[in-house]
Amino acid sequence: MSDGMTTEEIMALALEMAGFDEVPADSAIYVPGRGISRILFGIDLGPAELMLARQSGYDAAVAHHPTGCAPGGWRVYLRHAEQMAARGVPLEVARRVAEEGAERLRRAAVAQNYDREPSLARLLGLPYMNIHCPLDEIGRRRIQKEIDRFLAGDPSASLSALAEHLKQMPEFRAAATEPDVALGRPEAPAGRAVLSHAALTNGGYAVAQAYFAHGVDTVIYIHLGEADLMRLRAEPRGQVLVLGHIASDSVGINPFLDALEARGIEVTRIGGVIP
Ligand SMILES: [Fe+2]
Ligand SMILES: [Fe+2]
Repeated sequence: MSDGMTTEEIMALALEMAGFDEVPADSAIYVPGRGISRILFGIDLGPAELMLARQSGYDAAVAHHPTGCAPGGWRVYLRHAEQMAARGVPLEVARRVAEEGAERLRRAAVAQNYDREPSLARLLGLPYMNIHCPLDEIGRRRIQKEIDRFLAGDPSASLSALAEHLKQMPEFRAAATEPDVALGRPEAPAGRAVLSHAALTNGGYAVAQAYFAHGVDTVIYIHLGEADLMRLRAEPRGQVLVLGHIASDSVGINPFLDALEARGIEVTRIGGVIP
C-alpha cells in the first residue's frame, strides 16, 4: 500500500486479527494520523522513544502497553470472568473473582499520570496509539494452541516437558528469560493446563485458585507478582507455570507486525519486542 494506512486502519487490523468488534478499554488512538508507512513499534514507548520517532521521521509511534487510556483500562480485567467460565469455573464465581480484581485496579488507576506520553505526542504532532488486549489475545491463542497440541499428543506430559515444548516457539527460544515452574513439581503431569492471558494483567492468587477449585491442574501466567505466588505456595492446590512477560507479549505482537509489513508498512521493533 503506497499511500500508507490511517491509525484507524491499523487499529482495525489488530481488532480483526484478534476477533474483536470494538476497541477495548486498554487500547486507544491518542493522536490520529494518515498516510502512515513507517512505524516505530515498542512494547513500552516513553517520552524518549516518542522524541526518537519524531526526530527519525517515523509516521507513527505504536505501543503495546497502555499509557493514556489506563484510567479506564481496568474494565479489560473482567475478561478473566469469560475466560474462567469457558474453562468450567461457574459463571457467578468467575464474575465475583474478576470484579473484585477489577475494582482493585480501578481504585489504583487514579494514581496514574495518564496523559504524559499522549500530551507529548500531541505537542510533537506525532500520530500515536497503543494496542494492548487485541495483541495479547493473538498471543493467547497462539500459545494455547501449542499447549493443547502438545498435551493432546502426550496427555501425561510433565510440567517441565510442557515448558520445554513452549521454549521451542521462536520468541521463547530467543528470549533472555525462560518459562519457570513457579508452583508444583516439574516432573508432575501438567494435566488440564490453561493459559490465563489477555485480560489486562495476570489474575494473581484469586484467579489461579478459582481455576484450581474447578478442575484446572496448571494455570499458566505470563507474569505473576511475588506476593500472589507466596500466597499460592502457602496453600498449594495446583501448579503454576510462568512463561515470561516480554517473550509472551512478543508472541502476540509479531503476527500483527508481520501483517503490517505484508501491507507494505515499514516497522522498526524497539522497546523489548523479540523479533
Ligand atoms: Fe501484553
Ligand atoms: Fe505486557
